[in-house]
Amino acid sequence: MKILFVTSEAYPLAKTGGLADVAGALPKALESLGENVRILLPAYPEALDMLADKGRPIRLGDPLGLGESRLVPGRMPDSGVRAWVLDCPPMFTRDGGPYLGPDGNDWPDNFKRFALLARAAALVGIGGSMMGWQPDVIHANDWQTGLVPVYLEQWGSPVPPCVYTIHNIEYQGIFGPEVMGHVGLDHQHFSLEGIEFHGWVSYMKAGLVYARRLTTVSPTYAREVQTPAYGRGMDGVIRSRAGDMHGILNGVDYEIWNPEVDKLIPARYSADRMAGKAANKAALQRRVGLHEDPGAPVIGFVGRFAEQKGIDLLLDALPEVVDMGCEVVVVGTGSAYLEGRCRDAAGAFPGRVAAEVTYDEGLAHLVQAGSDLFTVPSRFEPCGLTQMYALRYGTLPVVRHTGGLADTVTDAGDPENGNGFVFSAATAADLVGALRRARELFDNPKGWRAMQKRGMSLDYSWHRAAESYRDLYAGIT
Ligand code: ADP
Ligand code: GLC
Repeated sequence: MKILFVTSEAYPLAKTGGLADVAGALPKALESLGENVRILLPAYPEALDMLADKGRPIRLGDPLGLGESRLVPGRMPDSGVRAWVLDCPPMFTRDGGPYLGPDGNDWPDNFKRFALLARAAALVGIGGSMMGWQPDVIHANDWQTGLVPVYLEQWGSPVPPCVYTIHNIEYQGIFGPEVMGHVGLDHQHFSLEGIEFHGWVSYMKAGLVYARRLTTVSPTYAREVQTPAYGRGMDGVIRSRAGDMHGILNGVDYEIWNPEVDKLIPARYSADRMAGKAANKAALQRRVGLHEDPGAPVIGFVGRFAEQKGIDLLLDALPEVVDMGCEVVVVGTGSAYLEGRCRDAAGAFPGRVAAEVTYDEGLAHLVQAGSDLFTVPSRFEPCGLTQMYALRYGTLPVVRHTGGLADTVTDAGDPENGNGFVFSAATAADLVGALRRARELFDNPKGWRAMQKRGMSLDYSWHRAAESYRDLYAGIT
């Protein structure tokens, strides 16, 4: 099967979070099953630079009146999977992130930028044969690509079917109704059964309504998004398509996230040879300015500073956590308020709490390798990758029971399968309860080692998920 995988980010070309890890790894896993995949993403300047084996660009003309556009063919620099980057300088050649300008606000023309991405995908969908590669199926991801199936629908049949994956229902791509005309959408789609959402246009709803199959990134989140508590207003739409909805748990790329081969950490180690972990812990403590005390459990957090991630619960818990003799390191960027709170906390507990307000891939690996515990206290978490990374690094996860966290971490209370600590309420008190239990186990080296080993031996590789996606594509082509 030929699969066009459309995404707004893909590691290592562009990354702000887990979607990039997925878009880097899933196409590779599909190719190892014998499928033929092409990744399509915008030609952000760094992505264009990093693209390997660049070929002759394919001209698309000016599909939405936003500027001359072309697809630059090439390969992912690490995996060699083929990728097309969508070059349209007025839209994508800018200093700043994929979604945010240098001022930290959304680019005001995101509705155009990602409509263009979707339009380019749809153009490949109908005219791929003229470009030398005709996809059998298009796999679109998150709101940035939600318009793909609408454009295909507008052009009528035969068009390739579309699978649409929700990575996070919180971000829906909601814009004023006036955008319809700017991005070439027929007005008939602005309806309750279409892409209208409380008087607005929702790019995510477009994907949910018009794609042939829907997926999200864990079985538990697939159920949660069908409830008002987690559905962010889309639960009704998703319930109406419950039969088309599949929860497929993300995987881990163990060529990248694996302490046996990780080149971004100072010392490599494995379940049988753990000495390197202590060296990484010392290196982490030195690097971020924590007391270099091997006897103090280090708790790591790496993630976006957003309400979703529950970093505020960890901040509220700090006095008790420090009192238990733990050290804490948080790495992330996001809301100015939470960034400020993290810096203040580091100031209040010097040597005990460290805050690195930065986006740093290498540091994210070092926190995985050098911490004893890794906490993901999320209010909701579609899948979550960092807790799965932590398991492989022998860093016991402390997570809230929600979404993919619930599907991947088993509480220590289960004597056979326990591999971490799970708490239920999104409160600092519940988090402290779980951390206290973790602290107790830390004083029992034999029990601790056994739990580390269990986590490190788990296999969350992409193979299984890739098979599930392949079956899904095969069912509609
Ligand atoms: P989400 O996609 O919601 O942000 P995930 O757990 O799926 O959460 O994936 C987050 C990814 O982004 C992981 O690879 C994590 O290591 C990385 N990450 C998040 N924040 C940072 C940061 N400040 N520096 C480096 N990597 C980060
Ligand atoms: C989203 C979710 C996260 C998930 C990631 C990749 O950003 O917040 O839980 O792991 O997408 O699917």
